[in-house]
Amino acid sequence: MSNLIIKGGNRLRGEVRVQGAKNSALPILAACVASGGINVIDNCPQLTDVSATLKILTYLGCKVSRDKNTITVDASCVNRYDIPRELMHEMRSSIVFLGPLLSRTGRAELYTPGGCEIGLRPVDLHISAMQQMGSDIAEEFGRIVCGSEGRLHSANISLSFPSVGTTENIIIAASTAEGTTVINNAAREPEISDLADFLNKCGADIRGAGESTVVINGVKKLHGTYHKIIPDRIVAATYMIGAAITGGNITLRETTPAHLTAVSDIFEKSGCRIRTEGDSINISAPKILKTAGTIRTMPYPGFPTDMQAPVSVMAAVSRGTTFIIESIFENRFKHIGELNRMGANIKVDGRMAVVEGVEKLCGTKVFSHDLRGGTAMVLAGLAAYGETLVAETEYIDRGCQDIEGDLRTLGADIHRENI
Ligand code: UD1
Repeated sequence: MSNLIIKGGNRLRGEVRVQGAKNSALPILAACVASGGINVIDNCPQLTDVSATLKILTYLGCKVSRDKNTITVDASCVNRYDIPRELMHEMRSSIVFLGPLLSRTGRAELYTPGGCEIGLRPVDLHISAMQQMGSDIAEEFGRIVCGSEGRLHSANISLSFPSVGTTENIIIAASTAEGTTVINNAAREPEISDLADFLNKCGADIRGAGESTVVINGVKKLHGTYHKIIPDRIVAATYMIGAAITGGNITLRETTPAHLTAVSDIFEKSGCRIRTEGDSINISAPKILKTAGTIRTMPYPGFPTDMQAPVSVMAAVSRGTTFIIESIFENRFKHIGELNRMGANIKVDGRMAVVEGVEKLCGTKVFSHDLRGGTAMVLAGLAAYGETLVAETEYIDRGCQDIEGDLRTLGADIHRENI
């Protein structure tokens, strides 16, 4: 257990490199099971969710080794198709092992990851997709037992919502299914394209990833490969908010600016200047931010729900009224109560937060209730008068490799206290 302690008021300045994307690393590591070969996955962030994924891979029989940000997964020796409840519950995205297990072994026995801090997060779309591809599925008391006679078969799957995890499970399962699978209304997040790039290097035939229609021609067998994970667009945007709310000027290296278009738009509306050059992105902020107006979370390429908590900190210290509408998850405003305790003026009505900008926030002890809510509290501490103590940092460690190290490099006064 640890706390993060921040003395607010320092302008962020300087340069920092951005970590690899958690949301790419997790499905790609799971997809190694389907590859059946030796995979070297580079630029993997060091996170508790990645460690939880490696535990599952090891349980399934993979040989896993790690050298800092490079993980080698030898999946030639997978010898199980079940994942115990306690490993499934360590992280929500463990459901992304469903497709890889069905692809590799034709069977999967796992548990629903259950509800979580930000909402119910059901898995009905995942299950229905696997059924459409020919898997029998029985569900009881949160246990999901799936199996198919021989290989899965192709299907024409129309998603009622462009679910990221479901799109990933279908792409992985369909890579080795019989025939051509089509996903309509697929999620378009950059992490989907990264997964498809990885699988194509493993010998899969996936076209259209990153678009609404994805076509997967099933192949008999995949093999291992080398792959470098894309930069984490959410971490990049989080540091950009740090610069915006402290009147700072920072450059982020090893980013993909094209993945940040929707967030860059919000920064520009708030009065910040954004410059990109190759894989670098620079943000310089004015002394006083103005409201960005209405911000609505949407599937990619819209404004990401994972940025909703961080952007509410920016809105809290911007001049004017900001309306933030959360349209993806039903329970993602828990950080607002904490922000109000720091002096913010935010009212939540259902899925909308109405934010009246205040001049300053004041440091106090606050709690993180989920990963992005926790990073929002750290950001709030950067802009606040006095000292902020962010408790329960284990949520933050699920997605940020070294938030305090990166922010210190940028000039923040922040340290971790182990308790
Ligand atoms: C992924 C990301 C997460 C991000 C989210 C939305 C990873 C590891 N996590 O989560 O950071 O916040 O996308 O961009 O990549 N839904 C159903 N039934 C299902 C599946 C989803 O109703 O079977 C609903 C969810 O409850 C939620 C919405 O669809 O309201 C979006 O979920 P989804 O896109 O699947 O998110 P995840 O893949 O879980």
